[in-house]
Amino acid sequence: MKILMVCLGNICRSPIAEGVMQKLVKDNGLNWEVDSAGTASYHIGSHPDKRSIAVAKQHGIDIAQQKAREFGKSDLETFDHIYVMDRQNYENVTSLASNAEQMSKVELLIPERIVPDPYYDDALFLPVFEMITTQCEKLLTELKNEN
Ligand code: 4NP
Repeated sequence: MKILMVCLGNICRSPIAEGVMQKLVKDNGLNWEVDSAGTASYHIGSHPDKRSIAVAKQHGIDIAQQKAREFGKSDLETFDHIYVMDRQNYENVTSLASNAEQMSKVELLIPERIVPDPYYDDALFLPVFEMITTQCEKLLTELKNEN
């Protein structure tokens, strides 16, 4: 199973989602690949935002070594599931899809709501971490049953 988490900058939300999902995968003894990417190129090569690093660290997850990369068309072939944080991410990712199969790989991480961009609001990092974690736990159970 190959899972990709996607946001805009790949420095705030998707690094948290990558770290949380990787920990769940490891704790469950699964051999799944979990990665993240951003639809924008501004932060390529940067480590996650220090506020994302801090909130993850407070919950026992080290994401400090991650480096941002840009989402590319080949990701739609490589990954089985691509989870995006908001509707802009959804538009950006699906606009690169070549066929219905690739379109079907792309979903909002949380189907009933977006994960808000916390970049300009320090107070959003904890709720973002919590909503991502709750959903990743749910997703792990669903995806385990898919195999
Ligand atoms: P992310 O947050 O998409 O969760 O990584 C953002 C990071 C940077 C910017 C916007 C959103 N930015 O405009 O630089």
